[in-house]
Amino acid sequence: MSEYAGKTLLFIGGGMEALPGIEKARDLGLHVVVSDMNPQAPGMLAAHDRLIASTYDVAATLDAAKDYHREVRQIDGVMCLATDVPLTVASVAAELGLPGIPVEVAARAMDKLAMKQKFAADGVAIPWFSAVESARHLQQLAEENGLPLVLKPVDSRGGRGVQRLTSEVDLAAAYQRALIQSPSGRVMVERYLPGPQISTESIVLAGACHTPGFADRNYEYIDRYAPNFIENGGTMPSHLPAQARQAVRDLVQQAARSLGVTCGVVKGDMVFSDGKPYVIELAARLSGGWFCTHEIPLNVGVDLVLAVIRLSLGLPVDPAALQPRFERGVALRLIFPTPGRVTAIEGEQAACNLPGVAMVRMAVEPGDIVRSPTDSNASAGLVIAVADDREEAARRAETAVQAIRVITEAV
Ligand SMILES: Nc1ncnc2c1ncn2[C@@H]1O[C@H](COP(=O)(O)OP(=O)(O)OP(=O)(O)O)[C@@H](O)[C@H]1O
Ligand SMILES: [Mg+2]
Repeated sequence: MSEYAGKTLLFIGGGMEALPGIEKARDLGLHVVVSDMNPQAPGMLAAHDRLIASTYDVAATLDAAKDYHREVRQIDGVMCLATDVPLTVASVAAELGLPGIPVEVAARAMDKLAMKQKFAADGVAIPWFSAVESARHLQQLAEENGLPLVLKPVDSRGGRGVQRLTSEVDLAAAYQRALIQSPSGRVMVERYLPGPQISTESIVLAGACHTPGFADRNYEYIDRYAPNFIENGGTMPSHLPAQARQAVRDLVQQAARSLGVTCGVVKGDMVFSDGKPYVIELAARLSGGWFCTHEIPLNVGVDLVLAVIRLSLGLPVDPAALQPRFERGVALRLIFPTPGRVTAIEGEQAACNLPGVAMVRMAVEPGDIVRSPTDSNASAGLVIAVADDREEAARRAETAVQAIRVITEAV
């Protein structure tokens, strides 16, 4: 009998990017329950059973999961994919006695200030940072520490309210913009670290970190959309030399230990600045943006989603399954049309047919309004392309993006 037969797995969040994981779990033979506020979410429609609860609402999700566990079916595991809700996942796991990271570790992973304080205490390389109490305090910190700095809400995501502070930026307005994005009303500032930005994704087994996910993040629009950080994709394998990559991996290991994840998944936002890696943050969950579901499997043939499904059910994960099986070039590029109302989308099918194109996904349709991006949810679509090497993969993805014309009119 399969290890999965008869077992029930709860996914917190049924968005489009979670769908591949939900389908994978079904294909394994699991009984799949999905919780989401939106009963029409793609993952909800694909589930065997549905719980209606906002993914961020820990109490509501706990109530729904407990009721289901008691009255309908025993839940054997809980996880999330492409939603930043480790606290909801850890709380359900703790309440139902399921495998998972400790609740206090998940809480720390969702609070950028608490995370940085722990990293600082443990000697993990991070940029200088400080809490910001007011616009006036920000002014004072900028005078004392100089610019550029990065201002951010302590507990938001997707780059909302994150701004690079330079002499052109009105600090009081920037402070307000960051503040409104923080559910707890807290803002922090950090030194801006120039240099290549890296995404990593790792599985920690008995405290040892395995990092098959390793990509260069593409920030060619950092000036076009300033002061916002707009990532327009990623490229794999990384351009960093082997020694630098190892230094990044070692730092991820150190950061995972400091955060307190000894068994589970960590997604790193890293920067290589002045010859040395730093942690921007470490998330205690699987990535979004098709990184763990598509880019990493295409790049190295490793299935992190399967690893997390297994860990969530208390099944062993063989470290050998986390080793790269091959190395291929992969590039993802986001589409940012001229802002306005979409009147037509052309070339989507032609783009799909171009060499090496593995995915084309549009996020808008005629009639939608495209705004100038202020965070990472603002793209109109994306392309993923593969090739033997990173340069060719990037060229293919960029060619496909150019083949897709999102025509907009001024509004
Ligand atoms: N101190 C810094 N130096 C350089 N770049 C930074 C710094 N802080 C943030 N960034 C850039 O801005 C991005 C968003 O910042 P951060 O991760 O703190 O916010 P977020 O809301 O969690 O965004 P995301 O969901 O994209 O990770 C980072 O991934 C990084 O590219
Ligand atoms: Mg981040």
